[in-house]
Amino acid sequence: MFKKLPIESLSVGMYVEAVAERSGSAQAAKVAKKGIIKSPEVIEKLKAVGVISVIVDTAKTITETSPTSEVAAPANSNKARSFSDKLASAHALYQQAKQLQAQALDNISEGRAFDMSAFVELSDGFVESLFDDQDALLCASMMKNKDDYLLEHSINVALLLGAFARYLERPMEEIKALILGGFLHDVGKVKVADGILKKPGKLTPEEYQEMKRHVEYGIAAVANQAQLPQIAKQVIAEHHERLNGKGYPAGLSGDEISLYGRMAAIADCYDAIISVRCYKDGEVAGRAFKILLNDSGSHFDTELVGKFIKCIGVYPVGTLVELKSGRLGMVIRKNLQNPLRPLIKVFYNWRQKHFIESREVDLGRTFEEDEIERTVRAESLSIDIPRYFEEFMLTG
Ligand SMILES: [Fe+2]
Ligand SMILES: [Fe+2]
Repeated sequence: MFKKLPIESLSVGMYVEAVAERSGSAQAAKVAKKGIIKSPEVIEKLKAVGVISVIVDTAKTITETSPTSEVAAPANSNKARSFSDKLASAHALYQQAKQLQAQALDNISEGRAFDMSAFVELSDGFVESLFDDQDALLCASMMKNKDDYLLEHSINVALLLGAFARYLERPMEEIKALILGGFLHDVGKVKVADGILKKPGKLTPEEYQEMKRHVEYGIAAVANQAQLPQIAKQVIAEHHERLNGKGYPAGLSGDEISLYGRMAAIADCYDAIISVRCYKDGEVAGRAFKILLNDSGSHFDTELVGKFIKCIGVYPVGTLVELKSGRLGMVIRKNLQNPLRPLIKVFYNWRQKHFIESREVDLGRTFEEDEIERTVRAESLSIDIPRYFEEFMLTG
C-alpha cells in the first residue's frame, strides 16, 4: 500500500517508492532512488537536497520487530522482486543475525543461558533466504566490517555451510542443523582472554594451547541445549579436527570425523583465509582454494574440497572485480554455463577514481565485450565499501 509521508515521519526500514515533493533541486531525483532506508544518514541526505515528502510502500517496509517474517517470505511470492530488493532483505537478515550473535556471545561470556529458540528461528530464515536467492545472501555476507570479525565469521561459516549442504543436496533438516552449527561453532572464543584472541603477533605455545581450548569451551556452552541438533554439536566439536589426526581437541582421524565436521573444517578455513587482510588484490578466492587444495588429503576431505570449490565458483558472489574497460563492480550472480562471465553490478571508474551511475553488466550476453581483468580487495580501495553498499547497492 502506498502512503505519502512528510520527510520528518520517514524512518529506517521504510521502503521509499518515490519522492512526492521537493523544494526545486534537480539533485533530489538522483539521490532518492527507490529502496529501503538503511540508515538515518540517508534521511538526512534526502532532507539536505530539499525533499519535503515521499511515497512509501508499506508492504515492503521492514519493521524492527519482525524482520525475519518480512525478509523470509516464501520463494514463490518473491518472483517479481528485483535483485536490489532481495539484497536489501538479505542485508537486513544478515544484520539481524549479527545482533543475535552479539547478544548470545554476551550472555555466554557472562555465564548466562542464551536463547536457543531465537537461533533456530534465524536458521529457518537463512534457509528460506538461501533457497529464495542464495546469491543475494552471499552478496550481503561479503560486506565485511573489519571490527566485527568474530560475529561475521560465524555468520559467514553458517551461510557457507548452508550453501554447501544445499549444493550437496542434503536433507532440509541437515541444512538447518549445519547453519545452526555454523552460527555457534566458535562461541567458545568468548571464554578465551581478549589479549590472546586479539593478539596481533604470534602466540606463545601456552597462549596457543588456550586458544585451542575454544572448542571445549564451546562444547560446554551448548551441552545443556536440548534443542540443538546433534549435527550442530558435531560442527562445534569437530571443526578443527583434521584427517591426518593432527587436529584438535580429540585428534580424530579419517572416518572418525563426521561428514559435518569435515564440511565445517573446509567452510571455516575458507572464510578465515578470505578474511585475512594482508593478501594482495587478485588473490581473494583463488588463494583460499589453493590452500584448501594443498591441504586436502592431509587436513581436508579431497572430494569435499572439490565440491566446495564448484559450489562457491571462480568468482564468488560478492567479489569485487575490475573489468577491462576500467569499471569496477561486484559479482552479483554466478554464470553456471560460463563461470568466467558472471553478472556484475558496476559502480566505479577505477582509472578516473570516481563513482559512476551503477548498472548491471551481464558478461554472459554474447554482445558484451567487456571482461574481468582481476579481482580487487575492498580494503585496497579508498571507498568505504560497506557504507557504499548500504547507501547505493540497496537502493539502486
Ligand atoms: Fe574455531
Ligand atoms: Fe571459526
